[in-house]
Amino acid sequence: MLHPEIEKRKTFAIISHPDAGKTTLTEKFLLFGGAINTAGAVKRNKANQSNTSDFMEIERQRGISVATSVMGFEYSGKRINILDTPGHKDFAEDTYRTLSAVDSVVLVVDCVKGVEEQTEKLMSVCRMRNTPVIIFINKMDREGKEAFDLLDEIEEKLNISLCPQSWSIGQGHTFKGVYSIYHNQLNLFHSDKTKVTDSVVKVNDLNDAALLDYLQEKEVGNLKDETELVNGVYGDLDVSLYKEGLLAPVFFGSAINNFGIKELLDTFIEIAPSPRHREAEERDVLVEEKNFSGFVFKIHANLDPKHRDRIAFLRICSGKFERNKFYYHTRQGKKMKFANPMDFMANEKSLVEEAWPGDVVGLYDSGNFKIGDTLTEGEKLQFKGIPSFSPAIFKEVENMDPMRTKQLEKGIEQLTDEGVAQLFVMQPGNRKVIGAVGELQFEVINFRLEHEYGAKCRFRTLTYSRSRWVTSDDKKTLDEFVKRKQQHIGTDKEGNPVYLSDNDFMIDMTKRDYPDINFHTTSEFK
Ligand code: G4P
Repeated sequence: MLHPEIEKRKTFAIISHPDAGKTTLTEKFLLFGGAINTAGAVKRNKANQSNTSDFMEIERQRGISVATSVMGFEYSGKRINILDTPGHKDFAEDTYRTLSAVDSVVLVVDCVKGVEEQTEKLMSVCRMRNTPVIIFINKMDREGKEAFDLLDEIEEKLNISLCPQSWSIGQGHTFKGVYSIYHNQLNLFHSDKTKVTDSVVKVNDLNDAALLDYLQEKEVGNLKDETELVNGVYGDLDVSLYKEGLLAPVFFGSAINNFGIKELLDTFIEIAPSPRHREAEERDVLVEEKNFSGFVFKIHANLDPKHRDRIAFLRICSGKFERNKFYYHTRQGKKMKFANPMDFMANEKSLVEEAWPGDVVGLYDSGNFKIGDTLTEGEKLQFKGIPSFSPAIFKEVENMDPMRTKQLEKGIEQLTDEGVAQLFVMQPGNRKVIGAVGELQFEVINFRLEHEYGAKCRFRTLTYSRSRWVTSDDKKTLDEFVKRKQQHIGTDKEGNPVYLSDNDFMIDMTKRDYPDINFHTTSEFK
């Protein structure tokens, strides 16, 4: 039996292709949890795709209210922690890292657009870690794709088995509400965007005459036929398959109208996993272990140059975290204690005395932390699961102000520690190359170097578009390869050699020429 404090924790992220309704759904969860009172309280974290100052302004505001990074609330005796992920596609790595700190995921799909590019990418990250996924099909108040077609499309494109747990009564202009298959309840549609209205009708089954007080005969008939078909095709929910990440329960609804959310939330708290054991390089760490352990998955810089502190977000994996207790920073091999750790409850941050596995605490940091750092009570551990992925754009840093070289170096070092982008060092000349997913990251780096470090640089675009971490069973073979391919080799922040390449064709050729070299698409390959 897990400690009740661990058992009651449900730590998850809501993810989606931009515009599918992630922010709206987050907000509605908070409304149900009583964490906020009105809609509109959750900041939209998306930026105009091409506008850096807009993006920076949003980041600045988010920096001030870091509480939006983690939103904790109590619901039905459970402690729910929602971890926020950036909406912008260029910050996909930030999202991947946040996904390393959750125990499950709710994936939002727009019923009009179906499965989109980001939906597929995010799902593939969940598959890598076997993260349990619940799918919420949103915007059922719009004329979208037909429910069965959507289910087929999701199963096929996301390569996961589905099991609908609620069913939409009509769609678009005929949308009447949602029937909860899981709880045998009917939830009728009242369009109310600001309040949570309870319009649940409990029925014994779909033959209950009471249904006709709310729905027309034809609608009841359709609902019966469709749910019978759903049952025949998809069967009962096997919760253990869901927990293994092999089966996704599906819910229908309309987030903006508060619809289908309660069904989702009520089932979520019943079936979503509590914190689980976690893999470290050295061993598996069990959540019920007495000794505390945790890892940093995100670093949030305060973008105000007058207050240059940063907040490192620590996910607790085992034991109990306590304020003012000494913990061991395993990478630096030093002890640290935290006088002002922050908890994120009800959308506000407050001082925390103790925290449990599944919780995320914010630690004020003056530069001690890097993404992926582990804290323990003394054991040398390094948690796994936060790999770097191959960037898509590579640019060399050119110093524009030789008087500020030190500041530039420090800025680049710190920003890449925060995970804004990746840094590779190339020879000869210790040239610094930044690898990123999108252009916006370069703009953010430039902006922040100038405003926070007083340094100026220019980026020179290189022809590379992918990277492969290279290893070999034989050190001499690897050294030889690195020497021969020197103009394509960068060293990452951990000192690992990385082969930079223009395209897949080049990688395939190199693989053929060097059969004893292993090429890895992420930095975690043990
Ligand atoms: P995101 O975080 O995934 O990017 O999506 P977000 O919640 O911001 O929602 C994107 C747009 O979709 C918003 O409209 C939002 O109001 C709308 N939306 C969310 N849920 C539903 C729904 O159930 N039905 C319908 N019809 N629309 C929905 P917007 O015009 O971009 O923003 P706003 O002006 O409404 O704030």
